[in-house]
Amino acid sequence: MGVKIPTARLSNGVEMPQIGFGVAALGNGKEFYAAMDSALENGFRMFDTAPFYENEAEVGDVLRHCSVPREELFIATKLPNACHAYEDTLRAFDSALKNMGLDYLDLFMIHFPVPSVGKYPEAWKAMEKLYRDGKVRAIGVSNFQEKHLQKIFETGEIVPHVNELECNPYLTVRPLCNFCQENKIRVINWFPLGGPREPLVPYPTDDFKVLLDEPLLIQIGEKYGKSSAQIALKWAIQNQITPIPKSANPKRIRQNTELFDFEMTKEELEAIDALDHGRRLGPDPDTFDDMEMG
Ligand SMILES: NC(=O)c1ccc[n+]([C@@H]2O[C@H](COP(=O)([O-])OP(=O)(O)OC[C@H]3O[C@@H](n4cnc5c(N)ncnc54)[C@H](OP(=O)(O)O)[C@@H]3O)[C@@H](O)[C@H]2O)c1
Repeated sequence: MGVKIPTARLSNGVEMPQIGFGVAALGNGKEFYAAMDSALENGFRMFDTAPFYENEAEVGDVLRHCSVPREELFIATKLPNACHAYEDTLRAFDSALKNMGLDYLDLFMIHFPVPSVGKYPEAWKAMEKLYRDGKVRAIGVSNFQEKHLQKIFETGEIVPHVNELECNPYLTVRPLCNFCQENKIRVINWFPLGGPREPLVPYPTDDFKVLLDEPLLIQIGEKYGKSSAQIALKWAIQNQITPIPKSANPKRIRQNTELFDFEMTKEELEAIDALDHGRRLGPDPDTFDDMEMG
């Protein structure tokens, strides 16, 4: 049933699938349920949600009732921006578990650092407690820059197991990925396919290029009989990064798992790296402080 997706070992020994299924923008209706069924059927075992996506409860519902044993699933959700105070973090975690109907999570992440509030080190202390209490198998951060990680290194005791970042061939954030990898923090990349085909307002619209229309990705794909999307996902995987593509389309969901029967050359990976022009479509982690988000 579907592709057997290989795993990557996190610094604490926990095995995490090398690709996950992102559920933002899928809603919580018919399209969402069909996409989840298709993702499970095609071999996806890792699911990335957040309270802000408004389908945390539905993700829990599908995964509790699916035929895949719980221990084969890898379920991740995130801490809302408004809950960085210590007790609020503990409460937000309990409410996520309750909402999803689960008795443990595989991964819990601080969604954004919100530097203007500056409480993420406090939130991290609470994340460490949740981890030590055995309520979650791995803890991480999302949208953290090197300086935010440095602060966690100074004030915390556990190095985050993952950092989930906006990253793709147009925004390789290579220095940050290198820093994470040197510190054994697994990078998960969001917008792995370049994100939405239409730029999100108020993000930049000038000169908007669709990553999946990029001639180099199409050309390398032709050599291997793969699509530009598969090349973008495999570029991440070959760089020890875990992509979490979203799709509502069964054929594309399947395509997004068919990545483990080819390897690109070093030269091809380097050519893809050279597409980087720092094109960020999501919020700037240094200034983003929307308290509704998370
Ligand atoms: N931590 C964070 O702050 C953060 C922020 C944003 C997102 N995320 C996570 O990252 C996940 C992915 O982000 P995203 O969905 O916005 O962007 P994405 O995965 O880069 O792109 C999704 C778009 O690509 C299309 N697509 C999917 N597979 C395709 C294929 N094989 N060929 C061609 N087109 C394909 C989808 O359309 P169809 O559905 O029509 O296939 C959709 O329009 C989210 O679901 C969420 O879990 C995290």
